[in-house]
Amino acid sequence: MQTQTVYLNGDFMPLEEARIPVLDRGFIFGDGVYEVIPVYSGYPFRLEQHLRRLQNSLDAIKLANPMSIAQWSRLARRIIRANPWKDQSVYLQVTRGVAKRDHAFPKAIVPTVFMMSNPMTTPPRKLVTGGVACITATDNRWLRCDIKSTSLLGNVLMRERSAEHGCIETILFRDGFLSEASASNVFVVHGKTISAPPNNHLVLPGTTYDVVIELARKARIPLKLREIGDDEVRNADEIWVTSATKEILAVTRLDAKAVGTGKPGPVFKRMYRLYQGYKRTVMRRG
Ligand code: PDD
Repeated sequence: MQTQTVYLNGDFMPLEEARIPVLDRGFIFGDGVYEVIPVYSGYPFRLEQHLRRLQNSLDAIKLANPMSIAQWSRLARRIIRANPWKDQSVYLQVTRGVAKRDHAFPKAIVPTVFMMSNPMTTPPRKLVTGGVACITATDNRWLRCDIKSTSLLGNVLMRERSAEHGCIETILFRDGFLSEASASNVFVVHGKTISAPPNNHLVLPGTTYDVVIELARKARIPLKLREIGDDEVRNADEIWVTSATKEILAVTRLDAKAVGTGKPGPVFKRMYRLYQGYKRTVMRRG
């Protein structure tokens, strides 16, 4: 097995050697934030946008950013170079650091900074052309889902529920309206119009969601950011899930019922092509 090089608090080391003290507030309280950045042929995709979202998450939990944008970029590029895979997903996490257990923030504490990279495989052809199955559930998470927090128990329990059903995701509804999925954003299509919930405290502002919206606007595909009721999702012609590692996938079965024709629809196919084209352009630019 190839060694995986990670970064922890200023040092690079093999993954097996990375250790954090048990009193780290990330371990004790889930008091931290994270990012997952896809890397294609060595190029981090939308790095700037991920680092901007990291800043927003840090601001929301009142944790000073331990590094500048330039330092984060350099570090990400070093981790990518230190690992052998062509396509990777860079994971970074900042926690409030190590201190005696007390809910209130300790004074004079040094944040823990961790970065690793894993091999990334883009969704196989079969999933892209055949679509994926999802289940639905009531969104019972907290009211700050806009923070990319490492406190992910709500998401973990929801994702596990879909895994138990052999499904890729659990699509969530809060008060009868679509929010997102356990680790993805969700789009629906009625006729030729794409709709998605707007960014607010109930959803993570997805980087892939932003790309899809940019591409739809550029291609003049009708797009509405609005509240979407449960029945509008169930009666949609197409449903998509998006995330940095899934890219865009068409949901062709929801709660064991066919979505639309039961096959990835024409708007999905167009958006998928636009997304792959955009990726190639960005990678060429480097
Ligand atoms: N998850 N919503 C939630 C709750 C998520 O966890 C994610 C991503 C997204 C999509 O965001 P983006 O397009 O920026 O990946 C939406 C990552 C991949 C994860 O936790 O592994």
